[in-house]
Amino acid sequence: MKAIPLCASTDIVDGGDAWPFEVLHQGYPCRAFVVRFEGRLHAWLNRCTHVAMELDLMPNRVFDASGQWLICASHGALFDPASGACAAGPCNGGLQRVQVIEQHGQVFWTPDADIRPAS
Ligand code: FES
Repeated sequence: MKAIPLCASTDIVDGGDAWPFEVLHQGYPCRAFVVRFEGRLHAWLNRCTHVAMELDLMPNRVFDASGQWLICASHGALFDPASGACAAGPCNGGLQRVQVIEQHGQVFWTPDADIRPAS
């Protein structure tokens, strides 16, 4: 499917704030985000697997203080930034990946059967 532009590569700093975007997940509006971790981009639905809540307490802050884990602000579940796997806390499985690519200094995401553009 057609890649959708998100932002400039330089907008996403390693271990820094997430870049949010809107999607439809199985037809329902949902937010997603992309982060950079150890130099690579990873995008996830912004939906905890404990309770279907967004991870961030402060807008776009999804890394814990160590910068090594994504943390859900509600009950402290930790997720691996690169694999989305649940690492600790009450999560029930891993985060759902959104395909993201980086080309010529730009970041794009790619819809799939479950995750579609919001508009
Ligand atoms: S809603 Fe995320 S840990 Fe409970």
